[in-house]
Amino acid sequence: MKSLMTSLMSSNSVSTENKLREVMLPYYEQDGITIYNGNAEHILDSFSSKQFDLCLTDPPYGIDYKYDGYEDTEDNLLKLINNTFGKILSSSKRVAVFSGVNNIWKYPKADWTVSYSWDTTATYGALGYNQWQPILFYGKDIKGFGSVNGIIKSDSIKLSGGAEIGFLRTDKNLEHPCPKPLNIMKILIARFTNEGDLVIDPFAGAGTTLLAAKRLGRKAVGIEQSRAYCDIAIKRLSQMELF
Ligand SMILES: C[S@@+](CC[C@H](N)C(=O)[O-])C[C@H]1O[C@@H](n2cnc3c(N)ncnc32)[C@H](O)[C@@H]1O
Repeated sequence: MKSLMTSLMSSNSVSTENKLREVMLPYYEQDGITIYNGNAEHILDSFSSKQFDLCLTDPPYGIDYKYDGYEDTEDNLLKLINNTFGKILSSSKRVAVFSGVNNIWKYPKADWTVSYSWDTTATYGALGYNQWQPILFYGKDIKGFGSVNGIIKSDSIKLSGGAEIGFLRTDKNLEHPCPKPLNIMKILIARFTNEGDLVIDPFAGAGTTLLAAKRLGRKAVGIEQSRAYCDIAIKRLSQMELF
């Protein structure tokens, strides 16, 4: 708690009182899912060592996406990684991070790198189209070699379908610039946790990790700096499962 107070007092962008409120009070808490609307750099200080079974997260990529309340520059990404990654690694038994390709080098060396790919082209880069993305993995895996929860422990995950399914646009009607497809989050949660486990996503966005966790019978904590994105997540969590 001392380090939390120290970090809160040292920054002057928002009042200390507001930051304390954001740390102490969940914005949403229901059916095993908790959401904090605030800055992960501070809120992560409130958790204890290895409290979470999995941190599954998709931080900004530092590629100038347009977010509500966050400027997606390379410098800001580096600051986010420096101010959160140590806390993420200490509060979670295992960590899976979507790093994107361009700024993968800014992350600490991973214990295992998984790729996920899809059938057809999606976004384009300088010299071609993206058909895969890396997921950096840190920590010890669950169970032994082989498979877990019916999923083979390979370093590659293939999503069938076109760009709409494989890349970021499954939930294109959501008012968030880049929600991840629900299917990839469900595969990763099933692969790296057991039923009843506790998952955290400190960059929760429109809540895809939280929704996947809920649907698979896991508990989850999300942190998101934009209140508008928290509200989207809450709306999704309250909807009935249609398929
Ligand atoms: C790539 S998006 C996550 C999208 C999410 N995976 C989904 O499916 O909706 C990254 C999110 O991090 C949030 N963010 C950026 N800086 C943050 C911070 N310091 N604390 C909490 N959230 C932050 C942004 O607002 C953005 O919604």
